[in-house]
Amino acid sequence: MTWMITGGAGYIGSHVVKAMADAGERVVVLDDLSTGDPARLPAGVPLERGSVLDGELVARVLRDHAVDGIVHVAGKKQVGESVERPLHYYRENVTGLQTLLEAAADAGVRRFLFSSSAAVYGMPDVDLVTESTECLPMSPYGETKRAGEWLVRATGRAHGMATASLRYFNVAGAVSPELGDPGVSNLVPMVFERLDRGERPLVFGDDYATPDGTCVRDYIHVEDIASAHLAAAGRLAEDPAAELVLNIGRGEGVSVAEMIRLICEVTGHVDTEPEIAPRRPGDPARVVASADLIRRELGWTARHDVRRMVESAWQGWRLRHPGPRG
Ligand code: WQD
Repeated sequence: MTWMITGGAGYIGSHVVKAMADAGERVVVLDDLSTGDPARLPAGVPLERGSVLDGELVARVLRDHAVDGIVHVAGKKQVGESVERPLHYYRENVTGLQTLLEAAADAGVRRFLFSSSAAVYGMPDVDLVTESTECLPMSPYGETKRAGEWLVRATGRAHGMATASLRYFNVAGAVSPELGDPGVSNLVPMVFERLDRGERPLVFGDDYATPDGTCVRDYIHVEDIASAHLAAAGRLAEDPAAELVLNIGRGEGVSVAEMIRLICEVTGHVDTEPEIAPRRPGDPARVVASADLIRRELGWTARHDVRRMVESAWQGWRLRHPGPRG
């Protein structure tokens, strides 16, 4: 089997590439290098440089490498930016996916894995979000992921592809410092940055209806994200009619205050107290996955805890930012 991994030179994609290559799968990467870095690819993995929006290129790569499965990780992923530039997000994430699926259907590709997001749920009003919790995305980014799931499912049904949409929760960490740049400003890197500048970490709101008043999320190690892809790819290879929609989370909520405390501990800032800032508009109080379905369907569970995520993220950060004083 040969898998084409789009966005394979990115933060999450490169972890997926590594996991699949380590498991002995043949892999080819398609990446436009807009945010990707070829240095993240293991030796021997071919890179085709270009965009999923280029249908002719995609068709050529599928043919040249005799691709039988696609893992589509490429995409734009910044919620705030998607509000400013919705057309750009729809073009990259929806038109890009459509172009890719057209080429895949023409080439007779039989397996398709799609990177979706917990952003499809919006502001879920439940303790644990299951895959049947209503999807009410709150941003153009979340909308493009929801529309993507529909496109993938419909194409799979019409063209005989086994499909999976994997809804990532809050991804953090790295398998090695070189792969550790998430490329976006999420909680963990934002706290690192404040600490490096000698500033106190910011908590966006401490008056939410949660145990300590700060927002609760389900953080998941990127290596676990990658192993979930491997498990899902295995299922798609076995079951030509598979049509999976699965949360990838740990099923455990961690509050912003708890996370900041842990980050301060891991980075040696034990006496640092965070500063309470106003709420960030659009933040749901609590988004925690039920990880039951993926366990039942694929026998997969996350292995790494939040400490491991923060420690590995910190090593990656330090590699790229060699210290506040040089
Ligand atoms: C986590 C919590 C912040 C920084 C986003 C997307 C989601 C997914 C992951 C792609 C929130 C708080 C943050 C800081 C803080 N992306 N925070 N101080 O918003 O849960 O999820 O990224 O699929 O779709 O929405 O992640 O890391 O930005 O924030 O208090 O300095 O940390 O308010 O409650 P979020 P995040």
